[in-house]
Amino acid sequence: MILDGKAVSEKRLEILKERIEESGLYPRLATVIVGEDPASQMYVRMKHRACERVGIGSVGIELPEDATTERVLEAVTRLNNDPDINGILVQLPLPAGVDTARVIEAVAPDKDVDGFHPCNLGRLFSGTPLFAPCTPQGIMTILDEYNIPIRGRRAVVVGRSIDVGRPMAALLLNADATVTICHSKTENLEAEMRNADILVSAVGKAKFVGPEMVKEGATVIDVGINQDEQGKLCGDVDFEAVKDRAGAITPVPGGVGPMTIATLMENTFRAAKLRTCNSTTVW
Ligand code: GUN
Repeated sequence: MILDGKAVSEKRLEILKERIEESGLYPRLATVIVGEDPASQMYVRMKHRACERVGIGSVGIELPEDATTERVLEAVTRLNNDPDINGILVQLPLPAGVDTARVIEAVAPDKDVDGFHPCNLGRLFSGTPLFAPCTPQGIMTILDEYNIPIRGRRAVVVGRSIDVGRPMAALLLNADATVTICHSKTENLEAEMRNADILVSAVGKAKFVGPEMVKEGATVIDVGINQDEQGKLCGDVDFEAVKDRAGAITPVPGGVGPMTIATLMENTFRAAKLRTCNSTTVW
């Protein structure tokens, strides 16, 4: 079974648009981008476009490549104090000269729609999340939409970043999976991966996951965005080699990627509801 993240995201965005209309609210997202990295610029443009589609207002703050940490903190503080802004997203990576941890910690936790603030990661790990990072939360939505069972299943997450690997493990744990986090220093990685009923790869290496690493019938979630030898976009998983062994698998493109933006839109609506009616439910 192909897990069609593009189709799920389209469906969720349509439902969200209706929910926002019914609510009478006008949520607003602010993005902050520092420098002119073309990939970051493209992601931010896609986020603004999604906002427009569902009825969320958006403002974009653009700072020069040589902006100081203080300058970025000043922009974030202004957005924290602006009652018309519900969600704040600082596009990562920031230029090397900017202290990323300080900037992330400066975002007001109740506007932190990326879910990267230690306060939100702590809530997530303590089992009482407010905002969870969009990519892993989007993966949970795909699993839910396709009725993939999680409770009691063995989940293996490969990668331990704060935006994907760690929060992914916490979300799966909160959903009662038995979770293993693997990384570059893991011994017997292949054996660990072959144990997985749900295998999530967030490694960033083209065609890293081959069929020998996948249990027959496993659900395989590919978070990678890489280029193969021909320069073509591909995930961490050797899709053609793994697809017949997996029970369910996300393609790249069209799998996890579209869910990240759909989840960002949901988180922004939840932030607006949190502010206006102290509720964070979307549905
Ligand atoms: N850069 C790559 N992915 C993301 C994301 O999900 N959020 C932010 N803020 N920056 C990113």
